[in-house]
Amino acid sequence: MPEKNPHPLFTQEFAADPYPAYGWLREHAPVHRTTLPSGVDAWLVTRYADARQALADPRLSKDPARHSARAHSRGRIGIPGERTADLVSHLLNIDPPDHTRLRRLVSAAFTPRRVAEFAPRVRELTDRLIDGFASRGSADLIAEFAFPLPIYAICDMLGVPRTDQDDFRDWAGMMLHTPGAGGTGSRGGVARSVKRMRAYLAELIHRKRADPGDDLISGLIQASDHGEHLSEKEAAAMAFILLFAGFETTVNLVGNGTLALLRDDAERTRLQRSLDRGETELLATAVEELLRYDGPVELATWRFATEPLRLGGTEVAPGDAVLVVLAAADRDPERFDRPDVLDLGRTSNPHLGFGHGIHYCIGAPLARLEGRTALAALLGRLPDLALAVPPEELRWRGGLIMRGLRALPVTFTPES
Ligand code: HEM
Repeated sequence: MPEKNPHPLFTQEFAADPYPAYGWLREHAPVHRTTLPSGVDAWLVTRYADARQALADPRLSKDPARHSARAHSRGRIGIPGERTADLVSHLLNIDPPDHTRLRRLVSAAFTPRRVAEFAPRVRELTDRLIDGFASRGSADLIAEFAFPLPIYAICDMLGVPRTDQDDFRDWAGMMLHTPGAGGTGSRGGVARSVKRMRAYLAELIHRKRADPGDDLISGLIQASDHGEHLSEKEAAAMAFILLFAGFETTVNLVGNGTLALLRDDAERTRLQRSLDRGETELLATAVEELLRYDGPVELATWRFATEPLRLGGTEVAPGDAVLVVLAAADRDPERFDRPDVLDLGRTSNPHLGFGHGIHYCIGAPLARLEGRTALAALLGRLPDLALAVPPEELRWRGGLIMRGLRALPVTFTPES
């Protein structure tokens, strides 16, 4: 057995294609202790069975205070500025029973039905964004399409007035450029954006309490479970986490997904023909397959052992940080037939792209709606869409948790 991974982690090459490194780990060191670029030590879990177990294991807490190294409290990991913004108790940072209570309340407002009713608006939004560049024959699909789509969508859903949505676009743009993610924005700038967004949401919640509408913020304020309600502070934290968790993830679903299609002529033609025939089944399985094949969330968010436990035959000590590598688990040949092949019609596809267990993505219905609408609109309106540069020249953001492109330059025949 080779002693050292021939594909080093956290290099430029790794950011462009982490799958060979993860494949080696899955085979030779499935629960592997490593020092992250931030200096924090963590276990990487790469096999599907171990990953699924870890995601649902109650001995792995989401509470940063459980971390022995206390890196969280020093602000080295987590949402930039979350300390200053007092944003600690959001869904991804808490355990039952608090998590159960908050999750029930948000689920009462953020229902699949509310999302389904939002479908025409997402179609309108995707069309408007494509209108912005369709006559030009070229575009950067990240900056002009994948990036604005989820931010406008969630703002609309929350009830942020259209006139204020460009502020959110700017704040979110700053967040997408954190230095940790390889961008140019300063950490201070990101923290300021987070703070402004939070202040805006707190003020909006205040207004909606007095004058509710049929938007998600009003729904969050009104949601009740066994007589309990969200406090204003909790509703603001919840609105923020919906924005934060649903933004970069969806940018990457559209970005990574479109790239995968543009790199595989046969699969892309298969989808295009199915859409031309007015079918929707392949589109649905295609989005699941794109989430599995090159999903937006490379590693699930942090977990910390609360007691000694064995994971994939390895002892994990209390206080240790555990990172479940969704990207590796979803390419595990023990679970997926021909895992490195993109098969848009894959039917047995229990991918972990939205996580698993009690923290399973609450925004999955919205993400699926946006992903399907975006891909159908792009392929429908720009049928000869092609990469404008060789794939090797594409730059990846190289963040830790997320996997996504900095830019996706494309060409196509201009719409007349
Ligand atoms: C949780 C992925 C879109 C809101 C998660 C988790 C994953 C995930 C993997 C679990 C993390 C963990 O267990 O550590 C994705 C992907 C998306 C997406 C791949 C897009 C393609 C969205 C959207 C929203 C959202 C659109 C909301 C508008 C959340 C929230 C949680 C979560 C609030 C925390 C749930 C909890 O802890 O109970 N997501 N997500 N996500 N997601 Fe998403």
